[in-house]
Amino acid sequence: MPSKLFSPLALRKLQLANRIVVSPMCQYSAEEGSATDWHLIHLGTLAQSSAGLVLIEATTVSREGRIAPGCLGLWNDANEAALQRVIDAIRPYATSPIGIQLSHSGRKGSVTAPWLGGKGLPVAAGGWIPLAPSAIAYADDSTVPQAMSTADIARILEDFVAAARRADRIGLDAIELHCAHGYLLHQFLSPLTNRRTDEFGGSLANRMRLPLAIFDAVRTAWPAHKPLGVRVSATDWMEHTGDPSWTPEQTVVFARELKQRGVDWIDVSSGGLSPLQKITLAPGYQLPFAERVKREAGVTTMGIGLITEPAMAESALANGQADMVALARGFLWNPRWVWQAAAALGASILPPPQYRRAPPADLGKVFSPLP
Ligand SMILES: Cc1cc2nc3c(=O)[nH]c(=O)nc-3n(C[C@H](O)[C@H](O)[C@H](O)COP(=O)(O)O)c2cc1C
Repeated sequence: MPSKLFSPLALRKLQLANRIVVSPMCQYSAEEGSATDWHLIHLGTLAQSSAGLVLIEATTVSREGRIAPGCLGLWNDANEAALQRVIDAIRPYATSPIGIQLSHSGRKGSVTAPWLGGKGLPVAAGGWIPLAPSAIAYADDSTVPQAMSTADIARILEDFVAAARRADRIGLDAIELHCAHGYLLHQFLSPLTNRRTDEFGGSLANRMRLPLAIFDAVRTAWPAHKPLGVRVSATDWMEHTGDPSWTPEQTVVFARELKQRGVDWIDVSSGGLSPLQKITLAPGYQLPFAERVKREAGVTTMGIGLITEPAMAESALANGQADMVALARGFLWNPRWVWQAAAALGASILPPPQYRRAPPADLGKVFSPLP
């Protein structure tokens, strides 16, 4: 049977050669939001991976929406020019289309990079006061965020739209809105972080209002032929506390709303909202959430999380758990994961022509003939 993982997929006018996605991965290597040579090297490598789609790291739509000072951004002309330089250099050699994840960190902003401990960064040390739906800090060492005014909400919506326009001008192929991992839009969705009493808090409809409004506004600004997906956390993993939290049931309602609005995929992750979360990790542990979203909302899904083996990726698709699979750490560990998965599953791919002599003799058929 031909591999499902290596079958093509159309997302609007974007043709994915296979269903393997490089998951967004923050690099904390930008300067004032502007991409550096690190991004050229890092994204250049991933863009030669032959993955069906590469998603650039969480890219913040405003300066205060950074997680750490080195977060990539698209909030001003300098950020746009810096990322344009990177994409222009990579494009001629890329074997994958390139999309971008747009994000705002909300209350998880103003921390140091992970390799510096990911610790709260006080204002006096170059940090900032984060914005959030409600003034509730993430962790004991986090800065208490400022609850967003209606004007802040309106501005952030415009910031997402402006960043989407910049992404289009740069020539990026797809956008994923980050509504997961406890960042701003997830903070609006979850009753644990959203205690607002206005039209953006309280009922599920109110908590979904801003993420859906941003989706609609970005969809309008982003060209109709380019796909727009959304990453969700299917659960806060906080049921053990007994407090109302974000659940798989609410995720399905959110996914249905997004489907009606024309979402092209839901990327189903989980957690990240609270340091008190209780997660049981296992290979493919988030796939059952993706399966539920796919089945109950009838939407194209991307499965993610501890998918490391080609056979597992293949079976997730064959069993109808997801339509695409994404890997993050797997690609850092082995940027040639797609080549090796193709060899393992008897599929073939088109590498950069410069690398055609790479396969060991017995794996020669992994590269399809030159078109
Ligand atoms: C270095 C690193 C950076 C990450 N940055 C992001 C990010 O920018 N946006 C996001 O949604 N997830 C981010 N994640 C989470 C991954 O996209 C992915 O969901 C998670 O690592 C689980 O997949 P894996 O088991 O294949 O690594 C990051 C993960 C890693 C390891």
